[in-house]
Amino acid sequence: MQHYVITGGAGFIGSNLADFYLSKANRVTILDNFSRPGSERNLAWLESRHGSRLKVVRADIRAADQVLAETIGSADVVFHLAAQVAVTTSVTDPRHDFEVNALGTFNVLEAARQAPSKPTMLYSSTNKVYGKMADLGIIEQNGRYAYQSAAEGIGEDRPLDPYSPYGCSKCTGDQYVLDYARIYDMKTIVFRQSCIYGPRQFGMEDQGWLAWFSIRAQQGKPVSIFGDGKQVRDVLYVQDLVAAYDAAVSHIETTSGKAYNIGGGPQNTLSLLELVKILNPRFGCTLDCKFEDWRPGDQPVFVSNIAKAKADFGWQPSVGVEQGIVQLTDWIKANEGLFEPRELNALAGAGVRS
Ligand SMILES: NC(=O)c1ccc[n+]([C@@H]2O[C@H](COP(=O)([O-])OP(=O)(O)OC[C@H]3O[C@@H](n4cnc5c(N)ncnc54)[C@H](O)[C@@H]3O)[C@@H](O)[C@H]2O)c1
Repeated sequence: MQHYVITGGAGFIGSNLADFYLSKANRVTILDNFSRPGSERNLAWLESRHGSRLKVVRADIRAADQVLAETIGSADVVFHLAAQVAVTTSVTDPRHDFEVNALGTFNVLEAARQAPSKPTMLYSSTNKVYGKMADLGIIEQNGRYAYQSAAEGIGEDRPLDPYSPYGCSKCTGDQYVLDYARIYDMKTIVFRQSCIYGPRQFGMEDQGWLAWFSIRAQQGKPVSIFGDGKQVRDVLYVQDLVAAYDAAVSHIETTSGKAYNIGGGPQNTLSLLELVKILNPRFGCTLDCKFEDWRPGDQPVFVSNIAKAKADFGWQPSVGVEQGIVQLTDWIKANEGLFEPRELNALAGAGVRS
């Protein structure tokens, strides 16, 4: 039986990943400080499905302590997902962002390096490590932005040029994780993820726009669009990401020491305005959109070239955008009570307490 340790395991991606491995009768430990609103809800869901088979460690990755060492010490695979996840809050509090994303990743990596079990470690990085890519020509086509060239999307050979404290702190972790494969012969993988969406995502205005817009549509409340809404992202359904994690780890002889751009790819792209068009009939509403200034560092387009992942571990997305949005919005409709702000805040408070 494999032992999977998932930092940030009560978050959106982490809880889906934990559910995947627990459903296959593996040993799973999640380590989380429950700072993300909704994380207690995700834990309750995991416990309702898997009971005491799930091991939970309430801890903060900013502390390089015995708890971290012991949790990771017996792992076969460490998925390092815990993070300060929003660009906006990285701008308002760059020190916190640095401590969680750069120092916290270093702490997890060091614990993995020193672990007697010699685990594989996969790190969730971000497409924000490539920055604004202002040299790429952008055109407007059919009411959305597109690359003038680069039809296959952005490959891993794109120079790193992070823009925003979040981009810098995630990029620091990204580079350390890759270097530990070279310097210490560790088995490490970096996923530079584009927009991920799906059930268990407690989207907020700052992060997780697909879920955020969907939750607001369900509640009949307005949303702010920063920019003109023609921004395009490749979007990836969370089960496809989980499949990619599993496939990359299973092909560690090929994937170790490498970075992969992981997203929906050129076949699965979406603009903000297109999302609104899909949501209106889904919720029988007209989402009230307020347009505001562009956010710093926002890319008009990001589309991942996912060819390297396909070549190295045979992965490609299987859930199309429309189908994925149906599945996300079905979950939101079925769980209306989960998204009350008061409840989420109370839950976040409960998490920080322990
Ligand atoms: N969701 C996306 O679209 C996306 C895109 C690119 C990269 N990523 C990366 O994927 C990872 C997971 O993202 P997510 O969307 O599931 O986010 P999330 O906020 O739902 O999950 C992150 C989890 O980390 C926990 N956490 C935060 N600070 C911590 C700390 N100091 N110690 C311990 N736990 C802490 C939170 O409580 C939360 O449960 C992150 O590293 C993020 O940067 C996500």
